[in-house]
Amino acid sequence: MSEVQVPVASLRQGMYVSALDRPWVGTPFLFQGFVIQDDEQLSQLRGLCDFVVVDEELSCVPVPRNPLPVHGARAPAPGTDAAVRRRMRLLRRNARAGYRHRQTSHGYVRWVLHDSRLGRSVDAEEAREVVGVLVDSIAADAAAALWLTHLKNRDEYTSLHCINVCVLTVAFCRELGYADEDLKTIGLGALLHDIGKAWTPLEILNKPGRLTDDEFRVIRRHPEDGYQIMKDTGQVPAEALAIIRFHHERLNGRGYPDGLRSHELTTPVLATAIADVYDALTSDRVYHAGRPSDAVLRMMYEDAGGSFGRELMEGFIRCVGIYPVGSLVELESGAIGLVVSVEPDSRLLPEVLLLRDADGRPLEEPMRISLADKVAEAVSSPWVIRRVVRGEQVDIDPAELLLREIGVGLSV
Ligand SMILES: [Fe+2]
Repeated sequence: MSEVQVPVASLRQGMYVSALDRPWVGTPFLFQGFVIQDDEQLSQLRGLCDFVVVDEELSCVPVPRNPLPVHGARAPAPGTDAAVRRRMRLLRRNARAGYRHRQTSHGYVRWVLHDSRLGRSVDAEEAREVVGVLVDSIAADAAAALWLTHLKNRDEYTSLHCINVCVLTVAFCRELGYADEDLKTIGLGALLHDIGKAWTPLEILNKPGRLTDDEFRVIRRHPEDGYQIMKDTGQVPAEALAIIRFHHERLNGRGYPDGLRSHELTTPVLATAIADVYDALTSDRVYHAGRPSDAVLRMMYEDAGGSFGRELMEGFIRCVGIYPVGSLVELESGAIGLVVSVEPDSRLLPEVLLLRDADGRPLEEPMRISLADKVAEAVSSPWVIRRVVRGEQVDIDPAELLLREIGVGLSV
């Protein structure tokens, strides 16, 4: 056995880190497995983890054989049931905490939309506080925050969409390297990007059928209306106002309201535009059912040249994963699982919570497995993902499943 659990205090340069005591996603490390090269990596590991797993054979320096117990208990080795259970517990705990912040944010957005509809002015300072909490929860565990974006409700589409776009945009811009202060400004714009819809008549906003040309013209006023609502507060930075006004602009100049072209559109504006389209197309609306995330990402990527830019779209796909956390997936064997963690170096083989076996029978106790480990073990693999499935196709409600997993009541 060449893998040893080592408390972070005992780490040295030259040791090969093969696993952390937390998901790799959200950490600064690009690869799942690397040799510690410098003090910066040492301090990053010490800041993030209690212990890591070191591979002796791949290390250039001796590795202590009798590491100290972590928090009084021997830490489980990665890949063992105990290790995956520990990671699942962590994800559940962070998702539960994130859920509470999300509920607060949702209450705020609903209230702002309601007040704006009545012509009352918006308190942008309160919005900044709400965004600050969301940014912190994404920094704590981006996977948990992204999992929560699967909490959707057709009847509250506009307000939940605002939260989801904020989370997706902030998680994406965080991966692009924006600092926390910038993320708060970007998140403010993303959270309020559709605030102008408060002035759109509800019969148009919630119309189940096809919109007439006149109704389209009305709905397309919302970026300018939103800009006006928030500019009037005198409390919103220009970059956030730009997101609100320009989130429907496209690189080819065919967007609205101003028909801007590529050089006039900033990365945060385009990042919000991507998150907006992605969440809209994967959500159930009054007039259409949401589409599977892999199909949406593929379609957006093919169209990215004229809309958001290929490079940025690739970055977004790297951030959320082809199979985003919270997606239901069908494996080649026919088994059904829920994606619970996407590692940066194996985005096509995430960790899943196995819910049904190959014959479609529900597992008594859902089991968390690493598809990357399973595929590495097998010659021909039944563990490869065949496709993303929607809840209705397999009679599983991902939102209900999430809430049950994190132990909260059935309401989004
Ligand atoms: Fe919009």
